[in-house]
Amino acid sequence: MITRRGLLTGGVATVTGALATPAAKAAAATAVADATAPATVTGAASGTATGTAVEPFHGAHQAGVATAPQAHAVFLGFDLLKGTRREAIVRLLQLLTDDAARLTQGRPALADTEPELAANPARLTITFGFGPGLFAAAGVDSPVRALPAFSTDRLEKRWSGGDLLVQVCADDTVTVAHAVRMIVKDTRSFARVRWTQRGFRSTNRRNLMGQIEGTVNATDLDRAVWIGAGPLRGGTTMVLRRIRMKLETWDAADRVAREFTIGRKLGDGAPLTGSAETDPPDYARKNRLGFPVIPEFAHIRRAHVADPALRLLRRPYNYDEGLSPEGESDSGLLFASYQADVAAQFVPVQRMLAEGDLLNEWVTHIGSAVFAVPPGCAPGGWIGEGLLG
Ligand code: HEM
Repeated sequence: MITRRGLLTGGVATVTGALATPAAKAAAATAVADATAPATVTGAASGTATGTAVEPFHGAHQAGVATAPQAHAVFLGFDLLKGTRREAIVRLLQLLTDDAARLTQGRPALADTEPELAANPARLTITFGFGPGLFAAAGVDSPVRALPAFSTDRLEKRWSGGDLLVQVCADDTVTVAHAVRMIVKDTRSFARVRWTQRGFRSTNRRNLMGQIEGTVNATDLDRAVWIGAGPLRGGTTMVLRRIRMKLETWDAADRVAREFTIGRKLGDGAPLTGSAETDPPDYARKNRLGFPVIPEFAHIRRAHVADPALRLLRRPYNYDEGLSPEGESDSGLLFASYQADVAAQFVPVQRMLAEGDLLNEWVTHIGSAVFAVPPGCAPGGWIGEGLLG
């Protein structure tokens, strides 16, 4: 008999290895998947030493938003094929929901060609977002629209827009790659990949500029992140900005300039007016010359939002796509933020930053996409049912 333990320790490999054809293997994998109970939910707090840790899939909210960020992410932007209408979109979402419900719980997707790879979920989450184009194709009013232009934008089409977002995060890169493969396979008759953005995080929470990130973030999620009423109730919105860093010139700036730019110390992330990361910044404090200790145009001063209900939930990933022949890096931040209301929360902050932020000297926004993130679903349901069902 094939047990869950067998599945997790490679039992499927033995069973399917004995089968002759790929179709037979896929069928066996499906049978195993169907007979397998969901793994125990261990969540982020229990640690992920074994890769078998799972995040719940079903529930009021989609996973991958409030989930403690995993080490690796791939953001996939899809364009629906011409003529793909509501009925086909619903079929696609039912298919993808089924894939996500299985893979995130350590079970192979239907007709998974590499079922062994599903046995290592490593806190896999698969999160779906709908762009304005998906709503238009389905004949439904879109709750989201593209962002207004900001003066510092240098957006490239190849990193912007998209009808459907699939965000795949896990603590293991092979797990992410496998999930991406399964998802892309199942979208083929409905959509084409518009962009793929791959990101990673460090356990010390530092970005590629060396700064600690995530000190001040939304904590009142019921007000700041989850939408409280209407068809998106229990859902949220997501903004994804691809922000390129000019690391060569950043590396040339001295430490004082770098700390001034953010308003926090590089060593421990403490505000320039404090001694610990969690100390509240004192924006009124002046130095002996009468200048503010945290500069007027420091990133944290410009981005600060006092009302906890209006804070963004930032969940960024670093990206690093290698070097040019001259040794110039192609790296930066995949800035993912979730908020109940894009216009009331994201836009004012980004406007403040575009109008004046010392960081602008070293960062350029080259991609932008906005999605409605539907609520989660119950077992047997599918993501988006309240919007398109
Ligand atoms: C490459 C681009 C960026 C870098 C390197 C960066 C870096 C940082 C760092 C180091 C902090 C301080 C630690 C923390 O609280 O997380 C911070 C804070 C913050 N950033 Fe950014 N950031 C970037 C882009 C953005 C963008 C595009 C937005 C929003 C539109 C944003 C919004 C915020 C907010 C709201 C805070 C917290 C401010 C507060 O203390 O209240 N950041 N960022």
